[in-house]
Amino acid sequence: MIISKQEDVTGVVIGAMSGAPNDRLRTVMASFVRHVHAFAREVRLTEAEFEFAIDFLNRIGQATNDAHNEAVLFSDAIGLSTLVCLLNNGQDGASETAAALLGPFWRANAPQMENGASILRSPTPGAPLFVDCNIRDGQGRPMSNVRVDVWQASPSGMYENQDAGQADMNLRGVFISDENGRFSFRSVKPAGYPVPTDGPTGEMLAAQKRHPYRPAHLHVLAYKPGFKTLITQVFVDDDQHLESDVVFGVTRALIGDFRKGQGTPPAPDVDGDWFSLNYTFVMEPGEAVLPHPPIK
Ligand code: BEZ
Ligand code: FE
Repeated sequence: MIISKQEDVTGVVIGAMSGAPNDRLRTVMASFVRHVHAFAREVRLTEAEFEFAIDFLNRIGQATNDAHNEAVLFSDAIGLSTLVCLLNNGQDGASETAAALLGPFWRANAPQMENGASILRSPTPGAPLFVDCNIRDGQGRPMSNVRVDVWQASPSGMYENQDAGQADMNLRGVFISDENGRFSFRSVKPAGYPVPTDGPTGEMLAAQKRHPYRPAHLHVLAYKPGFKTLITQVFVDDDQHLESDVVFGVTRALIGDFRKGQGTPPAPDVDGDWFSLNYTFVMEPGEAVLPHPPIK
């Protein structure tokens, strides 16, 4: 069909795509075209805005490299990552979930360590933190042999891959839950940090007068065949940005009890304040799939 007016375009494009043999591709792309065309009509997108948007998308790609994933960061900052997470967890979005967005900083191949080991690999500021967690199935039974990947930013405000001052894989590690479903490690109490703002996502945040901070948190990815891979974060309960996380990752279930230690510290080298975290993760039955690492 030859297009004669703006109203014709959407139907013609969807028609052109209708021969795709893959049903899901046909459904997703038809809906995408309908919504993106409706969006352009609703805001009456100008040519200058369209040009800006194309340049913005190109710059997202150009800002992405082995150590930085701007596309993940952007989708996090517009709430799309959290929406997709909530739609696909907690009985497909029906109930509260223990899952949270992956974010752009997970690296595969962090070193596997013994329970109780420290994930500090170079001098790192912050109060000592002793993490002792449980993993259970939906019936409350302890889950052993779960491969638990943990990572966090340094209280200096950066992940090790952003910071030449930290050792490779600092504040990252993999632990295997024991026969009681427990895993444990030593770290430092996380601090809040700003997401990278030197790319298009930062430009958007500034234009919207939004702060770039994430509340302090620890990331966890728990993997065991027969269970849906649990990707989540545990947030520090007294952080000032819990209600304004720049990437919308906080749910009530994910606020942890980071308790100030009393009495004798669990390690002889600790002097001054220290903290403990106990938390129970629950895994749902499902397919154990690992995400594609956003960075190398
Ligand atoms: C993170 O927590 O690592 C993160 C998540 C989304 C955007 C930036 C960082
Ligand atoms: Fe993080």
